Amino acid sequence: MPTHLLVVGAGQMGAGIAQVALQAGVQVTLVDAMAEALAKGKAKVEGGLSKLVEKGKLDEAKKQAALGLLRTATSIGDVKDVDFAVEAVSENVELKKKIFKDLDAVVKPGGVLATNTSSIPITTLGAATKRPDAVIGMHFMNPVPLMALVEVIRGVATSDATYAATLALAKSMGKTTVTSKDFPGFIVNRILIPMLNEACFALMEGLATAEDIDTAMKLGTNQPMGPLQLADFIGLDTCLAIAEVLHQGLGDSKYRPCPLLRQYVAAGWVGKKSGRGFYTY
Ligand SMILES: NC(=O)c1ccc[n+]([C@@H]2O[C@H](COP(=O)([O-])OP(=O)(O)OC[C@H]3O[C@@H](n4cnc5c(N)ncnc54)[C@H](O)[C@@H]3O)[C@@H](O)[C@H]2O)c1
Repeated sequence: MPTHLLVVGAGQMGAGIAQVALQAGVQVTLVDAMAEALAKGKAKVEGGLSKLVEKGKLDEAKKQAALGLLRTATSIGDVKDVDFAVEAVSENVELKKKIFKDLDAVVKPGGVLATNTSSIPITTLGAATKRPDAVIGMHFMNPVPLMALVEVIRGVATSDATYAATLALAKSMGKTTVTSKDFPGFIVNRILIPMLNEACFALMEGLATAEDIDTAMKLGTNQPMGPLQLADFIGLDTCLAIAEVLHQGLGDSKYRPCPLLRQYVAAGWVGKKSGRGFYTY
């Protein structure tokens, strides 16, 4: 287990990753360039731990011990003695490349530089550093404290030692891991996004109403929610961005994003977060 984990990006994913690491007894420094986002992320960690106490899943002493292991900073350069870093900043390749250059300078030799990216090739981020063997994908699911899975993605240069250290950290957080090669969408989004996209085509073609498409998939395939509702929850802009990555990266027309999905995103109807998507919130 690492002794000091650096989590970069205190948004919904970064705060969740920090929380599960603290619960595993790891010292964590949470970094965000925006002071406001950092404060919000820290409050999210505290709120997440308090919720576990309320549910009787964590005692107050353990919560306080976990919070005692948390530090924050607004710059990666201010953090020292890091042996494992997980990057969870916004999904932008140029931004992530810069972060990986910064991480290369602060993570100790022999340490791990992981990314929570949903779609950017691990190999591309590895190439932005002087140690691509230490770079790996550690793809947590949202919300991190509740979802059991971590997809581990090996770039072409990722070493066995980096892979083993990543599996060990995920295990200490109580997560189940699956291992994927570094191809667009990895495992989950490679299969999930075409299903959501197909539901959009079914709706566009008038095959059935949104409610009936969702009820059919919910009750007919035992999923907790239908594909259109799930797309609304993920964010239609995010679904479209991942669909574009699959389409471009795999070069097969079967991954073409549905025109109705593009139209909703163009209208600003991006799902729950905007109050309107396939449903109104
Ligand atoms: N949201 C999901 O469902 C989900 C699931 C799996 C993976 N991911 C991936 O996780 C990553 C983060 O997603 P999110 O949903 O937490 O985004 P978010 O917008 O909630 O958080 C991103 C954070 O990065 C910070 N940031 C931006 N530039 C920075 C910089 N230069 N230095 C430090 N911090 C900076 C922002 O201030 C923000 O707080 C993305 O790569 C995304 O693809 C998201």
